[in-house]
Amino acid sequence: MGRAGDAVALPRAGDFTAAPAAPTETGRTAATSRLSCSHLWKVFGPDSSEALRRAREAGRDVAEVIERLRGAGHVPAVCDVSFAVQRGEIFVIMGLSGSGKSTIVRCLSRLIEPTEGEVVIDGEDLLKLREPELIELRRHRMGMVFQNFGLLPHLNVLENVAYPLRVQGVPRAERERQARAMIELVGLGGRERSAPRELSGGMQQRVGIARSLAVKPDVWFLDEPFSALDPLIRRQMQDEFLRLQAKLQKTILFITHDFLEALKLADRIAIMRRGRFVQVGTGADLVLSPVDDYVADFTRDVPRDKVVTAGSIAEPTSDRLDCAQPVPAEATLDVVMQLLAERRAPVAVAGSDGEIIGRITAEGVVAALAAGGTPQP
Ligand SMILES: Nc1ncnc2c1ncn2[C@@H]1O[C@H](COP(=O)(O)OP(=O)(O)OP(=O)(O)O)[C@@H](O)[C@H]1O
Ligand SMILES: [Mg+2]
Repeated sequence: MGRAGDAVALPRAGDFTAAPAAPTETGRTAATSRLSCSHLWKVFGPDSSEALRRAREAGRDVAEVIERLRGAGHVPAVCDVSFAVQRGEIFVIMGLSGSGKSTIVRCLSRLIEPTEGEVVIDGEDLLKLREPELIELRRHRMGMVFQNFGLLPHLNVLENVAYPLRVQGVPRAERERQARAMIELVGLGGRERSAPRELSGGMQQRVGIARSLAVKPDVWFLDEPFSALDPLIRRQMQDEFLRLQAKLQKTILFITHDFLEALKLADRIAIMRRGRFVQVGTGADLVLSPVDDYVADFTRDVPRDKVVTAGSIAEPTSDRLDCAQPVPAEATLDVVMQLLAERRAPVAVAGSDGEIIGRITAEGVVAALAAGGTPQP
């Protein structure tokens, strides 16, 4: 196999390819991740810990425990959920309304108390922290963005963005300096003195994003941050968000209703249903191998060429002439098809170390798409 030249850049996320490739569940431990939770439960209702304990004693599996809780009039909003988000990873949770997405985010930041389970941020067990330590952690290491912007109407843009630093006790000149840098970062330089009501929805959400970043958080929670925006602004905000993440490399938990948004942003996606994770995987995993009809319903309208990757259908090759300008293995077939049309020759595929792992022909692409995205034997 020959060594590849410069790989063709992916249009999806610019220098975002510097982020770790979508990892697998294997070998993932809390020690190597920034944020994790295991066996997390949130049951709403009176005496929920006791109710959960009793339901667990009587139930044979999680499904039965949930049924017993529901039968007793409790709301099991998050049920035995475990996952870990790596440094620099964007982990997206999606699911229908009421499936428990916001409750997970609130449990992970302990804005609400989990009924049971473990939440670890950078090796620190959040559920063991006392209130003052928790407030410290939220103020210094967590950023949160919510759907309704949540700006303070009587403060201007600069004061809004500087507000978390003011709460931290940072002196005025310093907090304004940092706030200006964040305002610049989200493209709102020059609007520092505007009141929130003078800004469009997209601009207000940029202020919300700048404010959440002002404390330089390690872990960034975004709960449907773009849902209230119209489609064009929404796309711009998604691009902006990827640009910021390429630069900042935060550990991100992002909630959305929208599968195309999830596909664009996520390293991995968890699909949630009635409090439980039904499937966790890359966008391609979910589209090509949905575990059930619920997951398949989310992915039904997604064009296959936008999720099938070059690496998954590359055929072995020993032809060194193929190796000029390879595509990276994670490039999707829409990109490959464009190159095939331009070059009228097979396209080489390079692995993460630049080594050629195979090639793709026009016939190979057609066969893969006809088979729903799986490579032909
Ligand atoms: N404080 C509460 N008391 C009782 N039940 C609650 C409370 N908060 C949430 N729930 C219930 O928990 C379940 C999950 O709610 P959650 O807000 O997490 O859903 P979601 O997936 O974020 O929905 P959406 O997409 O509409 O924002 C719902 O059944 C909701 O009614
Ligand atoms: Mg919600």
